[in-house]
Amino acid sequence: MKVMSVSSDDSVRDAGDPDRADSSRLIVTIDGPAGTGKSSVARMVATRVGLTVLDTGAMYRAAALLTLRLKIDPKDGVQIAEAIGVHRIEMDFDVEPANVLLDGDDPGDEIRGSEVESIVSVVAAHPEVRQRLVAVQRAIATSHSRLVTEGRDQGSVVFPDADARFFLTASSGVRAKRRVNQLRAMGREVDPESVLQGIEARDRIDAGRADGPLIRPQGAIEIETDSLTLAEVVDRLVEIVKIVEAARDSGGGS
Ligand code: DC
Repeated sequence: MKVMSVSSDDSVRDAGDPDRADSSRLIVTIDGPAGTGKSSVARMVATRVGLTVLDTGAMYRAAALLTLRLKIDPKDGVQIAEAIGVHRIEMDFDVEPANVLLDGDDPGDEIRGSEVESIVSVVAAHPEVRQRLVAVQRAIATSHSRLVTEGRDQGSVVFPDADARFFLTASSGVRAKRRVNQLRAMGREVDPESVLQGIEARDRIDAGRADGPLIRPQGAIEIETDSLTLAEVVDRLVEIVKIVEAARDSGGGS
């Protein structure tokens, strides 16, 4: 199993992948609030361009699940960061798309549940927690050099020198509707109004934190998705990524 882990001594163990530092290196970042379709877009772009997908939200969700399991106060960033150092949060790249593992096990849908959802923004706001997970994300990029990574801070903080950086947006009403449909498709009972309120509350916390806030990275390409289909969004990204890669291969890129 190829995994990246956060270890207790602050170092990052890399179980290795052979495509290290090659000339085909291509880092694509996709940031934006919940419900803009980042995960689906990232997966489809990855398939069409030949990239590995990194879902950084899953890593923060695993940190939130760990917080719940250990009954740590979600406001205690130092204790959560210490726990992350002891209990490994890793990415398993043996499956496509890569799964997050907590202490070697796939937590499955537990990281998408309402308990995790209710604290994940608070957990993700701690600089100590972010520092640990950002280190793992950067290490992953050294061993998976063709990567599309999605989250909130990928183009602004983690990979400001990425080859292509995107910021997806959509109105909160449209994002809430998409989330309601997603939850109903999973067979869950949902109250649309509380979904909207939850999305807006998370946005406020994600955008308002001091460390790695949800912002449009300077120079990133913004795509407003309200009136676009998923396929249209993917087409736009793929077109731009291919232009960037071609320009670089012909010596015209930066
Ligand atoms: O994308 P998502 O809904 O799975 O993200 C879960 C939470 O993690 C959300 O509150 C934002 C936070 N997050 C973050 O702070 N930084 C990232 N790079 C990715 C997610």
